Amino acid sequence: MPNSISMEEYVNPGLLKMHKLWVRLLAVAAVSLFSVFFLVWSDGRPDIKVPEAEACQVLLSNLTESFLKRVNEVWSLRHLKLMQSCRWNFNASALAQYRAELGHCCNASAWLVLTRVNTPLGTKIVYDGDHSKSLKVSSGLLEILPEESPFQDPFYKTCAVVGNGGILLNSSCGSEIDGHQFVIRFNLPSTDFPEDVGRKSSIVTVNPSILQERFHGLTGRRLPFVKAAAFYGETWFLIPAFSYPGQNEASYRALYALQDSGSRSPVFFFHPQYLSALSRYWHERGFHTPRLSSGFMLVNAALELCQHITLYGFWPFSLHPDGHPLPHHYYDNQLPKPRVHLMPQEFAYYVNMHFQGVLHLHLGKC
Ligand SMILES: *[C@@H]1O[C@H](CO)[C@@H](O)[C@H](O)[C@H]1NC(C)=O
Ligand SMILES: *[C@@H]1O[C@H](CO)[C@@H](O)[C@H](O)[C@H]1NC(C)=O
Ligand SMILES: *[C@@H]1O[C@H](CO)[C@@H](O)[C@H](O)[C@H]1NC(C)=O
Ligand SMILES: *[C@@H]1O[C@H](CO)[C@@H](O)[C@H](O)[C@H]1NC(C)=O
Repeated sequence: MPNSISMEEYVNPGLLKMHKLWVRLLAVAAVSLFSVFFLVWSDGRPDIKVPEAEACQVLLSNLTESFLKRVNEVWSLRHLKLMQSCRWNFNASALAQYRAELGHCCNASAWLVLTRVNTPLGTKIVYDGDHSKSLKVSSGLLEILPEESPFQDPFYKTCAVVGNGGILLNSSCGSEIDGHQFVIRFNLPSTDFPEDVGRKSSIVTVNPSILQERFHGLTGRRLPFVKAAAFYGETWFLIPAFSYPGQNEASYRALYALQDSGSRSPVFFFHPQYLSALSRYWHERGFHTPRLSSGFMLVNAALELCQHITLYGFWPFSLHPDGHPLPHHYYDNQLPKPRVHLMPQEFAYYVNMHFQGVLHLHLGKC
């Protein structure tokens, strides 16, 4: 099934492709060579300071250069660690630029999820994963849609977007994550490890493939799903129910199961028109991917909806920046099917945004 985080492309260091963007990322890493001397030099000698300002200046000014292709991957991972030691400054105008562009193409506050306002009776919903297929909006569907978008309020002040990467293990980031006003999580992730990943959830995405795999498509007993959902407390569940034909029924059942059990957590469905527009936006900017991951989708939504954004748990490599091996997720090591998502390229965009001061990409401990 596409669009399952558990199946997202797993990249071990040997697999990093010399994709154009990736080369940019490597270039960033490469040009900081001289600063790595200081990093290595200062290892175990905390009294010797990394010349942060200069090293980071070079990293930054060379970001768009793609001159170095002969960099080995482990080395580049180490450099990303250095990147994290650079002082990061928020750039409100850079974020405003993203917000304006994304608002223009995609408009998360009005279009992220299906509502009775944006999905009138009798119109067609076109699946974003298969544009040749559509579904006519029935009164039955309208009944389970919210009247209006839940995202109309002014910006959330602080948002944490929490990927499921193994890098969160032993991070002690739980309380920092929970300190955000709005916390976004993906694919019914494990609620173990609260010390590292926190407890608070404002949005939890649920891919229909997870409903199939973990809950038999909810065709039998619903209690296991209801119990699993209850672990997140009161939250908004977000399901890409209309990305591929044949997935809406299980998604409806998830909504019914929660409503019938008296849960106060509403279920929303991604609007496929928003997802199509978003993927067109990135395609036009040279990002050609079979499918955006749900992580990337909601980072983009956050750019429109949040004033300050921090990413945690986004690190699509099998080695920690320190060099020790990591499981794929913080809760398991189930490897994804290849070629569904291009996680390293998405990651390169996050790195780019980090350097622009648009969002903060947190790696390592809190
Ligand atoms: C990296 O940036 C520095 C500072 O702007 C510049 O002098 C240098 O030429 C750049 N390196 C390369 C290889 O382009
Ligand atoms: C902030 O971002 C804007 C727009 O991208 C850019 O022109 C400006 O130089 C940035 N400011 C700083 C201090 O980096
Ligand atoms: C998004 O759509 C809503 C409703 O159509 C509209 O009021 C709002 O101005 C739009 N926002 C942007 C940024 O275009
Ligand atoms: C996390 O810490 C535990 C206990 O110190 C250790 O056994 C484990 O290997 C660590 N895992 C990672 C991925 O760092």
